[in-house]
Amino acid sequence: MSPRTPVVAANWKMNKTIEEAEAFLGAFLPRIGDLSGTEIVICPPYPALKAVVELSVQSRVKVAAQNMHEEPHGAFTGEVSAPMLREVGVHGVVLGHSERRAHFGETDEAVARKLPAALDAGLEPILCVGETESQRDAGTTEEVLRRQVETDLGAADDARLAEIVIAYEPVWAIGTGRTATPEQAAEAIELIRSLVGARSEEAGAAIRIVYGGSVTPDNAPELLGRPEIDGALVGGASLDPEDFARIVSAARS
Ligand code: PGA
Repeated sequence: MSPRTPVVAANWKMNKTIEEAEAFLGAFLPRIGDLSGTEIVICPPYPALKAVVELSVQSRVKVAAQNMHEEPHGAFTGEVSAPMLREVGVHGVVLGHSERRAHFGETDEAVARKLPAALDAGLEPILCVGETESQRDAGTTEEVLRRQVETDLGAADDARLAEIVIAYEPVWAIGTGRTATPEQAAEAIELIRSLVGARSEEAGAAIRIVYGGSVTPDNAPELLGRPEIDGALVGGASLDPEDFARIVSAARS
């Protein structure tokens, strides 16, 4: 048994109004009442953060944002800072999601600046890395993951690496219904763990590394049954309270 606490996170992306988030929690929270031993994180869009924090405060659910800016304040129109997220009771933040990299030009260097800012503000970062389909086909998966992990974690202190959650999310598996095989996911996660371990042996053993990309209630038991995989970052299937509760329970067994 891994000594690491599994973490299962719901990445709602640009989905759910406050009203819809409230309806989700009304159905989801009773379903996880007797589940323990797994960290459960919900990542709503910014406007619903406060409502989700307030409704889940008595539960085991933690709330994370989907992005943040690295500066605490300033002339950055349209951006939100880590202290602002902390003020509304947010616990963590997703950084470097492939959709931010692909559609909003987010670079590894930008992610590297955000990581220490998140940690310093007391936010648990969920750092996303993963290769595209053409990179996998070209045989460069290892090289891509190495560059992402080394650059993205480059400005974070060795002593704090274990506080980060890394999500291995192959881009070709996100929202496509094409899940990585448990073997592919485990292999990439082991590589990422060894890269963190090269920085700090202790952090390499303790850091939680999850899989993301078309996780469903049906494939979660097999993926999350692998000892290398410490949980999941779930997009589409996290929008349904019953599906997400089933994925959370798969992480425990
Ligand atoms: P998906 O998204 O589960 O819909 O593939 C995962 C993610 O983008 O984090």
